[in-house]
Amino acid sequence: MNERYAAVEIISAKRDKFELSDDQIDWTVDAYTRGVIADEQMSALLMAILLNGMNNREISRWTDAMISSGERMNWKMLDRPTVDKHSTGGVGDKITLPLAPLVAACGAAVPQLSGRGLGHTGGTLDKLESIKGWKANLSNDQMLKVLQECGAVICAAGAGLAPADKKLYALRDVTGTVEAIPLIASSIMSKKIAEGTGALVLDVKTGSGAFMSDPKNAVLLARTMVDLGKRAGVVTRALVTAMDVPLGKTAGNALEIRETLEVLSGGGPSDVVELTVILANEMLDAAGIKPKVDPETALQNGMAMDVWRKMIEAQGGDNNAPLPTAKEKMEIKASSSGKLLTLDAMKVGVAAWRLGAGRQKQGETLQLGSGIEMHAKPGDLVSEGQTLLTLHTDEAARFTRAVEALEGGYSIGSKEAQINRLPLVIERIEG
Ligand code: URA
Repeated sequence: MNERYAAVEIISAKRDKFELSDDQIDWTVDAYTRGVIADEQMSALLMAILLNGMNNREISRWTDAMISSGERMNWKMLDRPTVDKHSTGGVGDKITLPLAPLVAACGAAVPQLSGRGLGHTGGTLDKLESIKGWKANLSNDQMLKVLQECGAVICAAGAGLAPADKKLYALRDVTGTVEAIPLIASSIMSKKIAEGTGALVLDVKTGSGAFMSDPKNAVLLARTMVDLGKRAGVVTRALVTAMDVPLGKTAGNALEIRETLEVLSGGGPSDVVELTVILANEMLDAAGIKPKVDPETALQNGMAMDVWRKMIEAQGGDNNAPLPTAKEKMEIKASSSGKLLTLDAMKVGVAAWRLGAGRQKQGETLQLGSGIEMHAKPGDLVSEGQTLLTLHTDEAARFTRAVEALEGGYSIGSKEAQINRLPLVIERIEG
């Protein structure tokens, strides 16, 4: 086929800091999806985009081109408004798990397309796969059926949704080009817009354990995504939230399901409950729903748990099967008494990853029981000899590298010392 551009022209233009035209962008995304642009050429272009950026017009056209690379879903047949949430990823971030059934219990339909773990961050689908029999891959018809029956569905994006992003994402992962605002924003928003949700709440993480560790960049990413959503007619809000410390008290797949069940039973760690309720209120508001039962009550009275159990069962999961546990455990104890001052999200995330909770390469099988339990969080008083962390893995040989990752990852100071933490919600951005 006669191509209207050569890849090298596009790469050179971006290398030399020129804007790409709408037609150049359409061709580039389409030609890469068709295999006309080779991976090594796209890698060079992605690096040029990371280094030289894109303006708003380019980002929005790139996003549209990724949406057009595949199908666009819609949920017009449902009798309630749809709303979805997306997190940019963090350590111990299991919020989607209690949130989707909670928001469904309060009256919305939640078509939640989720992903797998990436680097040191966990993935919602991996976590759910610790439940015996649970299936991540549903056809569009199956997804609709679960949504109609339960009000919420959490599943993998099908192969037909934004295929350009699937190819680009895998390439970015191995070429050091994940951390570019135009590429992250277009990647996330192309999938969310193609998914057909009416409203969207973005949880943009910042702090050591997030891909955007600098809050200023996180705010810029949030603003870029909110603008993309608004242009596409999706009511979009973003909260920039803290990821300097892991969320909750567990990082690791089955461990996080256990914590989710605590939250759905009306208990669980206060930061997980607080963020779940904040995001639930934001989602319901974005969807235009005034709930008869508010989210706090729906967590306490079992309504959210009822939706969860129905949703898990509808996707083949056995709610009564025991969750996997790791074969080996190791405790890390406090070397002095005082106040826990820091607990670094990135270091905990890397340690959990090394214990087997995350993949070292694509397609690797996870140790679903592996991970880290945190018995204290910054601000808590601890006594010498008290267990601070329990490490879980199936292979004791993994402990050494996990302990190395944790070096300098926590500190204990005097009882009077002030802790220096990011607030849970740093900024709220509305379109
Ligand atoms: N999540 C995505 O889906 N894409 C990115 O680029 C980063 C996080």
